[in-house]
Amino acid sequence: MKDILTELEDRRNDARLGGGQKRIDAQHGRGKLTARERIELLLDEGSFEEFDMFVNHRCTDFGMENQKPAGDGVVTGWGTVNGRMVYVFSQDFTVFGGSLSETHAQKICKIMDMAIQNGAPVIGINDSGGARIQEGVASLAGYAEVFQRNIMASGVVPQISVIMGPCAGGAVYSPAMTDFIFMVKDTSYMFVTGPDVVKTVTNEVVTAEELGGASTHTKKSSVADGAFENDVEALAEVRRLVDFLPLNNQEKPPVRPFFDSPERVETSLDTLIPDNPNTPYDMKELITKVADEGDFYEIQEDYAKNIITGFIRLEGQTVGVVANQPMVLAGCLDIDSSRKAARFVRFCDCFEIPILTLVDVPGFLPGTSQEYGGVIKHGAKLLFAYGEATVPKVTVITRKAYGGAYDVMASKHLRGDFNYAWPTAEIAVMGAKGATEIIHRADLGDAEKIAQHTQDYEDRFANPFVAAERGFIDEVIMPQSTRRRVSRAFASLRNKQLKNPWKKHDNIPL
Ligand code: HXC
Repeated sequence: MKDILTELEDRRNDARLGGGQKRIDAQHGRGKLTARERIELLLDEGSFEEFDMFVNHRCTDFGMENQKPAGDGVVTGWGTVNGRMVYVFSQDFTVFGGSLSETHAQKICKIMDMAIQNGAPVIGINDSGGARIQEGVASLAGYAEVFQRNIMASGVVPQISVIMGPCAGGAVYSPAMTDFIFMVKDTSYMFVTGPDVVKTVTNEVVTAEELGGASTHTKKSSVADGAFENDVEALAEVRRLVDFLPLNNQEKPPVRPFFDSPERVETSLDTLIPDNPNTPYDMKELITKVADEGDFYEIQEDYAKNIITGFIRLEGQTVGVVANQPMVLAGCLDIDSSRKAARFVRFCDCFEIPILTLVDVPGFLPGTSQEYGGVIKHGAKLLFAYGEATVPKVTVITRKAYGGAYDVMASKHLRGDFNYAWPTAEIAVMGAKGATEIIHRADLGDAEKIAQHTQDYEDRFANPFVAAERGFIDEVIMPQSTRRRVSRAFASLRNKQLKNPWKKHDNIPL
Protein backbone atom coordinates (compact mmCIF):
# COMPACT_ATOMS: atom_id res chain seq x y z
CA MET A 1 0.00 0.00 0.00
CA LYS A 2 2.78 2.39 0.98
CA ASP A 3 4.50 1.72 -2.32
CA ILE A 4 1.38 2.65 -4.22
CA LEU A 5 1.02 5.89 -2.28
CA THR A 6 4.65 6.70 -2.93
CA GLU A 7 4.22 5.93 -6.58
CA LEU A 8 1.30 8.36 -6.78
CA GLU A 9 3.38 11.07 -5.19
CA ASP A 10 6.29 10.32 -7.54
CA ARG A 11 4.01 10.50 -10.55
CA ARG A 12 2.56 13.77 -9.30
CA ASN A 13 5.99 15.26 -8.77
CA ASP A 14 7.00 14.16 -12.21
CA ALA A 15 3.90 15.81 -13.74
CA ARG A 16 4.53 19.00 -11.78
CA LEU A 17 7.96 19.27 -13.40
CA GLY A 18 6.37 19.60 -16.85
CA GLY A 19 9.12 19.76 -19.45
CA GLY A 20 11.87 19.55 -16.82
CA GLN A 21 13.95 21.89 -14.69
CA LYS A 22 16.06 23.14 -17.60
CA ARG A 23 13.04 24.40 -19.46
CA ILE A 24 11.52 25.82 -16.27
CA ASP A 25 14.73 27.78 -15.74
CA ALA A 26 14.57 29.01 -19.32
CA GLN A 27 10.97 30.12 -18.75
CA HIS A 28 12.03 32.05 -15.64
CA GLY A 29 14.99 33.45 -17.56
CA ARG A 30 12.55 35.10 -19.95
CA GLY A 31 10.78 36.77 -17.03
CA LYS A 32 7.84 34.37 -17.30
CA LEU A 33 6.27 32.19 -14.62
CA THR A 34 5.41 28.55 -15.20
CA ALA A 35 1.87 27.35 -15.86
CA ARG A 36 1.50 26.14 -12.27
CA GLU A 37 3.01 29.23 -10.68
CA ARG A 38 0.49 31.31 -12.61
CA ILE A 39 -2.43 29.23 -11.36
CA GLU A 40 -1.16 29.57 -7.81
CA LEU A 41 -1.11 33.36 -8.12
CA LEU A 42 -4.49 33.51 -9.83
CA LEU A 43 -6.43 31.38 -7.38
CA ASP A 44 -6.99 31.58 -3.64
CA GLU A 45 -4.24 29.78 -1.78
CA GLY A 46 -4.73 26.02 -1.70
CA SER A 47 -8.00 26.16 -3.67
CA PHE A 48 -6.79 24.58 -6.91
CA GLU A 49 -8.22 21.17 -7.80
CA GLU A 50 -6.53 19.69 -10.80
CA PHE A 51 -8.01 17.51 -13.53
CA ASP A 52 -6.21 15.21 -15.94
CA MET A 53 -2.73 15.53 -14.49
CA PHE A 54 -1.71 12.22 -16.07
CA VAL A 55 -3.17 12.67 -19.54
CA ASN A 56 -0.74 11.77 -22.36
CA HIS A 57 -0.81 12.52 -26.04
CA ARG A 58 -1.47 9.66 -28.46
CA CYS A 59 0.88 10.67 -31.25
CA THR A 60 3.24 8.01 -32.58
CA ASP A 61 4.85 10.00 -35.39
CA PHE A 62 8.27 11.66 -35.34
CA GLY A 63 9.40 9.64 -32.30
CA MET A 64 6.68 11.18 -30.14
CA GLU A 65 5.88 7.80 -28.59
CA ASN A 66 9.13 8.15 -26.63
CA GLN A 67 8.25 11.57 -25.19
CA LYS A 68 5.13 11.52 -23.09
CA PRO A 69 5.25 14.18 -20.40
CA ALA A 70 2.31 13.81 -18.01
CA GLY A 71 -0.38 16.44 -18.53
CA ASP A 72 0.49 17.09 -22.18
CA GLY A 73 1.34 20.77 -21.93
CA VAL A 74 -1.67 22.23 -20.18
CA VAL A 75 -2.68 22.36 -16.52
CA THR A 76 -6.46 22.38 -16.02
CA GLY A 77 -8.88 22.44 -13.12
CA TRP A 78 -10.91 24.71 -10.91
CA GLY A 79 -10.43 26.80 -7.80
CA THR A 80 -11.67 30.01 -6.26
CA VAL A 81 -11.00 33.74 -6.59
CA ASN A 82 -11.94 35.44 -3.32
CA GLY A 83 -14.06 32.42 -2.52
CA ARG A 84 -15.93 32.33 -5.87
CA MET A 85 -15.52 29.41 -8.23
CA VAL A 86 -13.68 29.65 -11.56
CA TYR A 87 -12.38 27.10 -14.05
CA VAL A 88 -8.89 27.56 -15.35
CA PHE A 89 -6.49 26.22 -17.94
CA SER A 90 -2.87 27.24 -18.14
CA GLN A 91 -0.67 26.20 -21.05
CA ASP A 92 2.76 24.90 -20.11
CA PHE A 93 5.38 26.27 -22.48
CA THR A 94 7.96 23.87 -21.05
CA VAL A 95 6.12 20.92 -22.65
CA PHE A 96 6.43 21.01 -26.45
CA GLY A 97 6.23 24.79 -26.29
CA GLY A 98 2.71 24.60 -24.84
CA SER A 99 1.57 23.43 -28.27
CA LEU A 100 -1.96 22.13 -28.60
CA SER A 101 -2.44 18.42 -29.32
CA GLU A 102 -5.67 16.45 -29.55
CA THR A 103 -5.49 15.48 -25.86
CA HIS A 104 -4.34 18.96 -24.75
CA ALA A 105 -7.50 20.31 -26.44
CA GLN A 106 -9.65 17.62 -24.80
CA LYS A 107 -8.42 18.75 -21.39
CA ILE A 108 -9.42 22.34 -22.13
CA CYS A 109 -12.78 21.23 -23.53
CA LYS A 110 -13.49 19.19 -20.42
CA ILE A 111 -13.20 22.15 -18.08
CA MET A 112 -15.10 24.42 -20.48
CA ASP A 113 -17.97 21.92 -20.57
CA MET A 114 -17.96 21.81 -16.78
CA ALA A 115 -17.87 25.59 -16.56
CA ILE A 116 -20.93 25.91 -18.80
CA GLN A 117 -22.75 23.15 -16.95
CA ASN A 118 -21.91 24.41 -13.47
CA GLY A 119 -22.09 28.13 -14.21
CA ALA A 120 -18.63 29.47 -13.43
CA PRO A 121 -16.21 31.67 -15.43
CA VAL A 122 -13.40 30.23 -17.54
CA ILE A 123 -9.97 31.80 -17.29
CA GLY A 124 -7.51 30.68 -19.97
CA ILE A 125 -3.80 31.37 -19.64
CA ASN A 126 -2.22 31.18 -23.09
CA ASP A 127 1.47 30.46 -23.65
CA SER A 128 1.75 28.26 -26.69
CA GLY A 129 3.57 27.63 -29.96
CA GLY A 130 0.19 26.85 -31.56
CA ALA A 131 -0.90 23.63 -33.19
CA ARG A 132 1.27 20.61 -32.20
CA ILE A 133 3.14 20.25 -35.45
CA GLN A 134 3.66 16.49 -35.04
CA GLU A 135 -0.11 15.93 -34.81
CA GLY A 136 -1.27 17.85 -37.86
CA VAL A 137 -4.98 17.85 -38.47
CA ALA A 138 -5.80 16.24 -35.09
CA SER A 139 -4.50 19.43 -33.53
CA LEU A 140 -6.56 21.63 -35.84
CA ALA A 141 -9.63 19.63 -34.88
CA GLY A 142 -8.74 20.20 -31.24
CA TYR A 143 -8.67 23.97 -31.79
CA ALA A 144 -12.05 23.92 -33.48
CA GLU A 145 -13.51 21.96 -30.55
CA VAL A 146 -12.26 24.69 -28.22
CA PHE A 147 -13.63 27.43 -30.53
CA GLN A 148 -17.07 25.82 -30.56
CA ARG A 149 -17.10 25.83 -26.77
CA ASN A 150 -15.99 29.47 -26.65
CA ILE A 151 -19.03 30.27 -28.76
CA MET A 152 -21.40 28.18 -26.65
CA ALA A 153 -20.04 29.69 -23.43
CA SER A 154 -20.34 33.26 -24.74
CA GLY A 155 -23.02 35.08 -22.79
CA VAL A 156 -23.45 32.08 -20.47
CA VAL A 157 -20.32 32.35 -18.31
CA PRO A 158 -17.68 35.10 -18.39
CA GLN A 159 -14.56 34.07 -20.31
CA ILE A 160 -11.23 35.76 -19.65
CA SER A 161 -8.03 35.18 -21.63
CA VAL A 162 -4.59 36.03 -20.35
CA ILE A 163 -1.86 36.02 -22.98
CA MET A 164 1.48 35.27 -21.35
CA GLY A 165 3.64 34.12 -24.25
CA PRO A 166 3.14 33.32 -27.92
CA CYS A 167 -0.40 33.04 -29.27
CA ALA A 168 -0.23 32.84 -33.04
CA GLY A 169 -2.04 31.58 -36.11
CA GLY A 170 -5.53 30.22 -35.72
CA ALA A 171 -4.85 29.88 -32.00
CA VAL A 172 -5.67 33.58 -31.58
CA TYR A 173 -9.32 32.94 -32.34
CA SER A 174 -10.07 31.27 -29.03
CA PRO A 175 -9.05 34.31 -26.96
CA ALA A 176 -10.63 36.56 -29.59
CA MET A 177 -14.04 35.08 -28.81
CA THR A 178 -13.72 35.50 -25.05
CA ASP A 179 -15.00 38.54 -23.16
CA PHE A 180 -11.70 40.05 -22.04
CA ILE A 181 -8.08 39.65 -23.13
CA PHE A 182 -5.20 40.73 -20.91
CA MET A 183 -1.61 40.75 -22.18
CA VAL A 184 1.79 41.02 -20.55
CA LYS A 185 4.12 43.68 -21.94
CA ASP A 186 7.20 42.45 -23.80
CA THR A 187 6.62 38.71 -23.23
CA SER A 188 3.35 38.08 -25.02
CA TYR A 189 2.21 38.50 -28.59
CA MET A 190 -0.76 37.61 -30.75
CA PHE A 191 -0.90 37.55 -34.54
CA VAL A 192 -2.56 35.58 -37.29
CA THR A 193 0.64 35.48 -39.36
CA GLY A 194 4.07 36.14 -37.88
CA PRO A 195 6.80 38.59 -38.93
CA ASP A 196 8.43 36.13 -41.37
CA VAL A 197 5.25 35.52 -43.34
CA VAL A 198 4.45 39.22 -43.28
CA LYS A 199 7.89 39.94 -44.78
CA THR A 200 7.42 37.34 -47.51
CA VAL A 201 3.92 38.40 -48.49
CA THR A 202 3.91 42.17 -48.02
CA ASN A 203 7.61 42.98 -47.78
CA GLU A 204 7.01 44.76 -44.46
CA VAL A 205 9.72 44.36 -41.85
CA VAL A 206 8.22 44.25 -38.39
CA THR A 207 9.14 42.70 -35.05
CA ALA A 208 6.85 40.32 -33.19
CA GLU A 209 6.37 42.99 -30.54
CA GLU A 210 5.41 45.66 -33.09
CA LEU A 211 3.14 43.28 -34.96
CA GLY A 212 1.27 41.80 -32.03
CA GLY A 213 2.64 42.88 -28.66
CA ALA A 214 0.60 44.18 -25.74
CA SER A 215 1.06 47.80 -26.76
CA THR A 216 -0.13 47.17 -30.32
CA HIS A 217 -3.23 45.33 -29.19
CA THR A 218 -4.25 47.74 -26.45
CA LYS A 219 -3.53 50.94 -28.37
CA LYS A 220 -3.98 50.19 -32.06
CA SER A 221 -6.04 47.10 -32.78
CA SER A 222 -8.22 46.98 -29.62
CA VAL A 223 -7.88 43.19 -29.64
CA ALA A 224 -6.76 43.29 -25.99
CA ASP A 225 -8.40 45.03 -23.05
CA GLY A 226 -5.44 45.59 -20.78
CA ALA A 227 -1.61 45.47 -20.82
CA PHE A 228 0.39 44.74 -17.69
CA GLU A 229 4.03 44.90 -16.68
CA ASN A 230 4.50 41.24 -15.76
CA ASP A 231 2.73 37.96 -15.02
CA VAL A 232 2.16 38.84 -11.36
CA GLU A 233 0.45 42.14 -12.11
CA ALA A 234 -1.68 40.66 -14.90
CA LEU A 235 -2.98 37.85 -12.69
CA ALA A 236 -3.71 40.22 -9.80
CA GLU A 237 -5.76 42.34 -12.22
CA VAL A 238 -7.69 39.27 -13.41
CA ARG A 239 -8.63 38.63 -9.77
CA ARG A 240 -9.84 42.23 -9.46
CA LEU A 241 -11.90 41.88 -12.63
CA VAL A 242 -13.49 38.60 -11.51
CA ASP A 243 -14.67 40.36 -8.35
CA PHE A 244 -16.89 42.62 -10.46
CA LEU A 245 -18.50 39.85 -12.49
CA PRO A 246 -21.32 37.40 -11.89
CA LEU A 247 -20.42 33.72 -12.13
CA ASN A 248 -22.91 33.17 -14.95
CA ASN A 249 -25.86 34.72 -16.76
CA GLN A 250 -28.40 33.49 -14.19
CA GLU A 251 -26.74 35.13 -11.23
CA LYS A 252 -26.36 38.74 -10.16
CA PRO A 253 -22.85 40.16 -9.73
CA PRO A 254 -21.48 39.83 -6.21
CA VAL A 255 -22.38 42.47 -3.63
CA ARG A 256 -19.31 43.67 -1.76
CA PRO A 257 -19.30 45.42 1.60
CA PHE A 258 -19.00 49.19 1.12
CA PHE A 259 -17.87 51.91 3.44
CA ASP A 260 -18.91 54.94 1.42
CA SER A 261 -22.26 56.61 2.00
CA PRO A 262 -24.55 56.59 -1.03
CA GLU A 263 -25.69 60.00 0.25
CA ARG A 264 -22.19 61.46 -0.15
CA VAL A 265 -22.39 64.99 -1.58
CA GLU A 266 -19.57 66.17 -3.86
CA THR A 267 -19.75 69.96 -4.00
CA SER A 268 -16.69 70.05 -6.26
CA LEU A 269 -18.85 68.62 -9.05
CA ASP A 270 -20.86 71.86 -9.15
CA THR A 271 -17.82 73.50 -10.76
CA LEU A 272 -16.63 70.58 -12.89
CA ILE A 273 -18.10 72.07 -16.08
CA PRO A 274 -15.96 75.00 -17.29
CA ASP A 275 -17.62 78.33 -18.14
CA ASN A 276 -16.50 78.06 -21.74
CA PRO A 277 -18.50 75.27 -23.41
CA ASN A 278 -15.51 74.41 -25.57
CA THR A 279 -13.11 73.88 -22.68
CA PRO A 280 -12.58 70.20 -21.85
CA TYR A 281 -12.66 68.64 -18.40
CA ASP A 282 -11.82 65.16 -17.20
CA MET A 283 -14.90 62.92 -17.14
CA LYS A 284 -12.95 60.41 -15.03
CA GLU A 285 -13.24 62.86 -12.15
CA LEU A 286 -17.01 62.45 -12.24
CA ILE A 287 -16.75 58.65 -12.47
CA THR A 288 -14.48 58.32 -9.46
CA LYS A 289 -16.53 60.81 -7.44
CA VAL A 290 -19.69 58.82 -8.09
CA ALA A 291 -18.12 55.37 -7.44
CA ASP A 292 -17.97 53.63 -4.07
CA GLU A 293 -14.59 54.48 -2.55
CA GLY A 294 -13.55 56.11 -5.84
CA ASP A 295 -12.75 52.66 -7.26
CA PHE A 296 -12.95 52.50 -11.06
CA TYR A 297 -11.81 49.44 -13.04
CA GLU A 298 -11.21 50.67 -16.55
CA ILE A 299 -11.50 48.43 -19.63
CA GLN A 300 -9.59 49.34 -22.82
CA GLU A 301 -8.03 52.36 -21.14
CA ASP A 302 -5.55 52.97 -23.96
CA TYR A 303 -7.91 52.67 -26.93
CA ALA A 304 -10.47 55.17 -28.29
CA LYS A 305 -9.92 57.40 -25.31
CA ASN A 306 -12.81 59.64 -26.39
CA ILE A 307 -15.04 57.12 -24.66
CA ILE A 308 -14.43 55.57 -21.25
CA THR A 309 -15.66 52.10 -20.30
CA GLY A 310 -15.27 50.16 -17.07
CA PHE A 311 -16.78 48.99 -13.82
CA ILE A 312 -17.59 50.74 -10.57
CA ARG A 313 -19.68 49.72 -7.58
CA LEU A 314 -22.64 51.61 -6.17
CA GLU A 315 -23.80 50.46 -2.75
CA GLY A 316 -21.48 47.49 -3.26
CA GLN A 317 -23.13 46.43 -6.55
CA THR A 318 -21.35 46.30 -9.88
CA VAL A 319 -22.31 48.95 -12.43
CA GLY A 320 -20.86 49.25 -15.94
CA VAL A 321 -19.94 52.82 -16.88
CA VAL A 322 -19.85 54.28 -20.39
CA ALA A 323 -18.82 57.93 -20.55
CA ASN A 324 -17.81 60.39 -23.24
CA GLN A 325 -14.43 61.96 -22.52
CA PRO A 326 -14.38 65.66 -23.50
CA MET A 327 -10.56 65.69 -23.16
CA VAL A 328 -10.14 63.56 -26.31
CA LEU A 329 -11.67 64.59 -29.68
CA ALA A 330 -14.04 66.75 -27.60
CA GLY A 331 -15.82 63.50 -26.64
CA CYS A 332 -17.10 62.90 -30.20
CA LEU A 333 -18.34 59.45 -31.13
CA ASP A 334 -16.40 57.82 -33.95
CA ILE A 335 -15.80 54.34 -35.34
CA ASP A 336 -13.42 53.16 -32.65
CA SER A 337 -15.30 54.56 -29.67
CA SER A 338 -18.63 53.20 -30.97
CA ARG A 339 -17.18 49.70 -31.35
CA LYS A 340 -15.47 49.84 -27.98
CA ALA A 341 -18.57 51.00 -26.11
CA ALA A 342 -20.97 48.71 -28.02
CA ARG A 343 -19.03 45.61 -27.04
CA PHE A 344 -18.90 46.77 -23.44
CA VAL A 345 -22.64 47.50 -23.32
CA ARG A 346 -23.38 44.06 -24.76
CA PHE A 347 -21.14 42.41 -22.19
CA CYS A 348 -22.99 44.18 -19.39
CA ASP A 349 -26.35 43.22 -20.83
CA CYS A 350 -25.34 39.54 -21.19
CA PHE A 351 -24.44 39.37 -17.54
CA GLU A 352 -27.15 41.55 -15.99
CA ILE A 353 -24.79 44.37 -15.07
CA PRO A 354 -26.66 47.71 -14.90
CA ILE A 355 -25.27 50.52 -17.05
CA LEU A 356 -24.53 54.11 -16.06
CA THR A 357 -24.02 56.42 -19.05
CA LEU A 358 -22.40 59.83 -18.60
CA VAL A 359 -22.96 62.04 -21.62
CA ASP A 360 -21.01 64.97 -23.01
CA VAL A 361 -21.03 64.42 -26.75
CA PRO A 362 -20.95 67.09 -29.46
CA GLY A 363 -21.91 64.52 -32.13
CA PHE A 364 -20.27 62.05 -34.48
CA LEU A 365 -16.80 62.88 -35.76
CA PRO A 366 -17.08 64.22 -39.33
CA GLY A 367 -14.72 63.32 -42.17
CA THR A 368 -14.02 61.08 -45.12
CA SER A 369 -11.98 58.63 -43.07
CA GLN A 370 -14.94 58.09 -40.80
CA GLU A 371 -17.45 57.73 -43.63
CA TYR A 372 -15.19 55.51 -45.74
CA GLY A 373 -14.48 53.44 -42.63
CA GLY A 374 -18.19 52.80 -42.18
CA VAL A 375 -19.05 55.00 -39.21
CA ILE A 376 -22.69 54.48 -40.16
CA LYS A 377 -22.50 50.76 -39.41
CA HIS A 378 -20.15 51.14 -36.45
CA GLY A 379 -22.16 53.91 -34.83
CA ALA A 380 -25.23 51.73 -35.30
CA LYS A 381 -23.55 49.05 -33.18
CA LEU A 382 -23.65 51.28 -30.14
CA LEU A 383 -27.19 52.43 -30.87
CA PHE A 384 -28.26 48.81 -31.29
CA ALA A 385 -26.44 47.66 -28.17
CA TYR A 386 -28.11 50.29 -25.99
CA GLY A 387 -31.51 49.75 -27.56
CA GLU A 388 -31.54 45.98 -27.08
CA ALA A 389 -30.13 46.11 -23.53
CA THR A 390 -32.72 45.22 -20.91
CA VAL A 391 -30.56 45.85 -17.83
CA PRO A 392 -31.21 48.93 -15.68
CA LYS A 393 -29.98 52.01 -17.56
CA VAL A 394 -29.34 55.35 -15.87
CA THR A 395 -28.06 58.28 -17.90
CA VAL A 396 -26.68 61.64 -16.80
CA ILE A 397 -26.09 64.39 -19.36
CA THR A 398 -23.47 66.74 -17.99
CA ARG A 399 -23.06 69.08 -20.93
CA LYS A 400 -23.49 68.47 -24.65
CA ALA A 401 -25.91 65.96 -26.09
CA TYR A 402 -26.21 66.88 -29.73
CA GLY A 403 -27.84 65.28 -32.72
CA GLY A 404 -27.84 61.55 -33.34
CA ALA A 405 -25.29 61.11 -30.58
CA TYR A 406 -27.93 62.32 -28.09
CA ASP A 407 -30.21 59.50 -29.21
CA VAL A 408 -27.42 56.91 -29.15
CA MET A 409 -26.09 57.59 -25.66
CA ALA A 410 -28.76 55.68 -23.70
CA SER A 411 -31.44 58.29 -24.27
CA LYS A 412 -34.97 57.98 -22.91
CA HIS A 413 -36.07 56.80 -26.35
CA LEU A 414 -33.79 53.74 -26.12
CA ARG A 415 -35.57 52.68 -22.94
CA GLY A 416 -33.39 54.62 -20.52
CA ASP A 417 -34.92 54.10 -17.08
CA PHE A 418 -33.65 57.28 -15.44
CA ASN A 419 -32.47 60.11 -17.66
CA TYR A 420 -30.98 62.92 -15.64
CA ALA A 421 -29.35 66.14 -16.79
CA TRP A 422 -27.21 68.66 -15.01
CA PRO A 423 -28.35 72.31 -15.32
CA THR A 424 -25.32 72.79 -17.62
CA ALA A 425 -26.72 70.31 -20.18
CA GLU A 426 -27.25 71.41 -23.78
CA ILE A 427 -29.62 69.07 -25.59
CA ALA A 428 -30.27 70.02 -29.20
CA VAL A 429 -30.05 68.93 -32.81
CA MET A 430 -26.73 70.69 -33.20
CA GLY A 431 -24.57 73.48 -31.79
CA ALA A 432 -25.85 77.07 -32.03
CA LYS A 433 -23.31 78.19 -34.64
CA GLY A 434 -24.03 75.35 -37.06
CA ALA A 435 -27.77 75.69 -36.59
CA THR A 436 -27.69 79.45 -37.24
CA GLU A 437 -25.66 79.05 -40.41
CA ILE A 438 -28.32 76.72 -41.80
CA ILE A 439 -31.57 78.33 -40.74
CA HIS A 440 -30.38 81.92 -41.26
CA ARG A 441 -28.35 81.39 -44.41
CA ALA A 442 -29.69 84.64 -45.90
CA ASP A 443 -28.04 86.65 -43.10
CA LEU A 444 -24.61 85.03 -43.44
CA GLY A 445 -23.01 88.27 -44.70
CA ASP A 446 -24.19 90.22 -41.65
CA ALA A 447 -22.01 89.34 -38.65
CA GLU A 448 -24.15 91.27 -36.21
CA LYS A 449 -27.35 89.51 -37.21
CA ILE A 450 -25.65 86.10 -37.15
CA ALA A 451 -24.33 86.79 -33.64
CA GLN A 452 -27.84 87.70 -32.53
CA HIS A 453 -29.36 84.59 -34.11
CA THR A 454 -26.69 82.44 -32.49
CA GLN A 455 -27.39 83.98 -29.12
CA ASP A 456 -31.12 83.47 -29.60
CA TYR A 457 -30.59 79.81 -30.48
CA GLU A 458 -28.34 79.29 -27.45
CA ASP A 459 -30.86 80.94 -25.15
CA ARG A 460 -33.64 78.78 -26.54
CA PHE A 461 -31.91 75.40 -26.89
CA ALA A 462 -28.58 75.23 -25.02
CA ASN A 463 -30.20 73.94 -21.83
CA PRO A 464 -31.82 70.78 -20.49
CA PHE A 465 -35.30 72.26 -20.10
CA VAL A 466 -36.66 71.85 -23.60
CA ALA A 467 -36.05 68.09 -23.27
CA ALA A 468 -37.26 68.10 -19.65
CA GLU A 469 -40.52 69.81 -20.71
CA ARG A 470 -41.19 66.83 -22.95
CA GLY A 471 -40.28 64.24 -20.32
CA PHE A 472 -37.18 63.10 -22.24
CA ILE A 473 -35.23 64.13 -19.15
CA ASP A 474 -36.81 62.87 -15.95
CA GLU A 475 -35.17 65.42 -13.68
CA VAL A 476 -32.59 68.19 -13.81
CA ILE A 477 -30.27 67.40 -10.90
CA MET A 478 -27.57 69.23 -8.98
CA PRO A 479 -24.13 67.95 -9.97
CA GLN A 480 -23.14 67.59 -6.31
CA SER A 481 -25.99 65.12 -5.72
CA THR A 482 -25.13 62.83 -8.65
CA ARG A 483 -23.90 59.89 -6.53
CA ARG A 484 -27.02 59.97 -4.39
CA ARG A 485 -29.42 60.32 -7.32
CA VAL A 486 -27.76 57.62 -9.38
CA SER A 487 -27.44 55.19 -6.44
CA ARG A 488 -31.13 55.62 -5.59
CA ALA A 489 -32.08 55.16 -9.23
CA PHE A 490 -30.23 51.86 -9.50
CA ALA A 491 -31.60 50.75 -6.11
CA SER A 492 -35.14 51.32 -7.41
CA LEU A 493 -34.37 49.20 -10.49
CA ARG A 494 -33.10 46.07 -8.73
CA ASN A 495 -36.23 44.13 -9.65
CA LYS A 496 -36.51 45.49 -13.18
CA GLN A 497 -38.16 43.03 -15.58
CA LEU A 498 -37.96 43.76 -19.28
CA LYS A 499 -37.99 41.21 -22.09
CA ASN A 500 -37.37 41.68 -25.78
CA PRO A 501 -39.66 39.87 -28.24
CA TRP A 502 -38.69 36.25 -28.97
CA LYS A 503 -36.18 35.84 -31.76
CA LYS A 504 -33.54 33.29 -32.66
CA HIS A 505 -30.98 36.03 -32.31
CA ASP A 506 -30.75 39.60 -33.47
CA ASN A 507 -28.83 40.84 -36.46
CA ILE A 508 -26.67 43.57 -34.96
CA PRO A 509 -24.81 45.48 -37.71
CA LEU A 510 -21.46 43.70 -37.35
C1 HXC B 1 5.43 21.20 -31.38
C2 HXC B 1 6.65 22.96 -30.59
C3 HXC B 1 5.82 23.86 -31.26
C4 HXC B 1 4.72 23.34 -32.00
C5 HXC B 1 7.31 24.99 -30.22
N1 HXC B 1 7.57 23.71 -29.98
N2 HXC B 1 6.25 25.12 -31.01
N3 HXC B 1 6.46 21.63 -30.66
N4 HXC B 1 4.58 22.02 -32.03
N5 HXC B 1 3.86 24.14 -32.62
C6 HXC B 1 8.63 23.17 -29.15
C7 HXC B 1 10.01 23.35 -29.73
O1 HXC B 1 10.30 22.27 -30.58
C8 HXC B 1 10.89 23.37 -28.51
O2 HXC B 1 11.04 22.05 -28.06
C9 HXC B 1 10.01 24.05 -27.48
O3 HXC B 1 8.66 23.92 -27.95
C10 HXC B 1 10.32 25.51 -27.33
O4 HXC B 1 10.36 26.10 -28.61
P1 HXC B 1 11.54 27.06 -29.06
O5 HXC B 1 11.40 27.23 -30.52
O6 HXC B 1 12.82 26.56 -28.53
O7 HXC B 1 11.17 28.36 -28.26
P2 HXC B 1 11.27 29.86 -28.72
O8 HXC B 1 12.61 30.11 -29.33
O9 HXC B 1 10.87 30.67 -27.56
O10 HXC B 1 10.17 30.04 -29.86
C11 HXC B 1 8.82 29.90 -29.56
C12 HXC B 1 8.01 29.88 -30.87
C13 HXC B 1 8.61 28.83 -31.84
C14 HXC B 1 8.05 31.26 -31.52
C15 HXC B 1 6.57 29.55 -30.51
O11 HXC B 1 8.79 27.61 -31.12
C16 HXC B 1 7.78 28.58 -33.01
O12 HXC B 1 7.78 29.35 -33.97
N6 HXC B 1 7.04 27.47 -32.99
C17 HXC B 1 6.24 27.06 -34.11
C18 HXC B 1 5.04 27.92 -34.21
C19 HXC B 1 4.13 27.43 -35.28
O13 HXC B 1 4.40 27.52 -36.46
N7 HXC B 1 3.03 26.77 -34.83
C20 HXC B 1 2.03 26.26 -35.69
C21 HXC B 1 1.23 27.44 -36.13
S1 HXC B 1 -0.16 26.98 -37.03
P3 HXC B 1 12.31 21.60 -27.19
O14 HXC B 1 12.17 20.13 -27.10
O15 HXC B 1 13.51 22.06 -27.95
O16 HXC B 1 12.17 22.28 -25.88
C22 HXC B 1 -1.32 26.97 -35.89
C23 HXC B 1 -2.58 26.69 -36.49
C24 HXC B 1 -3.67 26.70 -35.47
O17 HXC B 1 -1.13 27.15 -34.76
C25 HXC B 1 -4.92 26.67 -36.26
C26 HXC B 1 -6.13 26.69 -35.42
C27 HXC B 1 -7.31 26.83 -36.32
